[in-house]
Amino acid sequence: MSDKKLIIANWKMNPATLKEAEHLFSSVDEGIEPNENLEVVICPPFVYLPPLVNLSKHNLAFGGQDCFWEKQGAYTGEISPSELKNLGCEYVVIGHSERKKYFQEDESMANKKLKAALASRLIPILCIGEEVRDDFDSEGRALGEINPVIAEQIEKALADINHTRVRDIVITYEPVWAISTTVDQKDCSFDEAMKAALFIRKILTKLYSRPIAEKVKIIYGGSVDSRNAVNYIKEANLDGVLVGRASLNASEFIKIAEKLT
Ligand code: PGA
Repeated sequence: MSDKKLIIANWKMNPATLKEAEHLFSSVDEGIEPNENLEVVICPPFVYLPPLVNLSKHNLAFGGQDCFWEKQGAYTGEISPSELKNLGCEYVVIGHSERKKYFQEDESMANKKLKAALASRLIPILCIGEEVRDDFDSEGRALGEINPVIAEQIEKALADINHTRVRDIVITYEPVWAISTTVDQKDCSFDEAMKAALFIRKILTKLYSRPIAEKVKIIYGGSVDSRNAVNYIKEANLDGVLVGRASLNASEFIKIAEKLT
């Protein structure tokens, strides 16, 4: 994988109409200059992929928000990695916490999806992260203990994925408690994100080796916006960001890309 920083837009189940999706996409596509240091990936709902790929000026890459592990067949409602690839996707999000919450997905499913995505030459964006932040000091900041759930999630999701394949996976540290937070909630601090990324690299070193662990891109997701994106990358020393809510606002998303340019 290249050394470019990654900005991934996860539109989730938005917007409500194709017209709005085309408008959002065109604004972002026109507003973001191609840049040799930056890869911008848009993950719209599946149904918008073909029309948006047609509109694309090729400044942006595409990703699916999920995929199934089989190639084809009687799996109602599912989308295969090769179908995504054939539509023009280069990436696919796997194991997002909302899949776990609403569809009871687990790490063994993420493992099968990862293998299938790699076999179709898609770059998997594997989401991991603890559900609750339960470790606070008197000021309400986390004490820096990394939840062991993260180690368990990585080990299960990467089971039987060898060192030549793991280099092609992007790991997103996405603490569930920090997703789409409101003003009265606390965001994940840059320090917490950095510690989690170091911890993830330690696990990868244990599972593979240090040189391999250093090649895996680790990005952050959870209430990223134009105000904090650059700090997650610079202060927390991460390889990119996964943006949900703020990616639905074209000017805000373009600002994130500008700050990282
Ligand atoms: P958020 O979503 O940026 O709205 O927190 C991130 C995500 O869930 O991928």
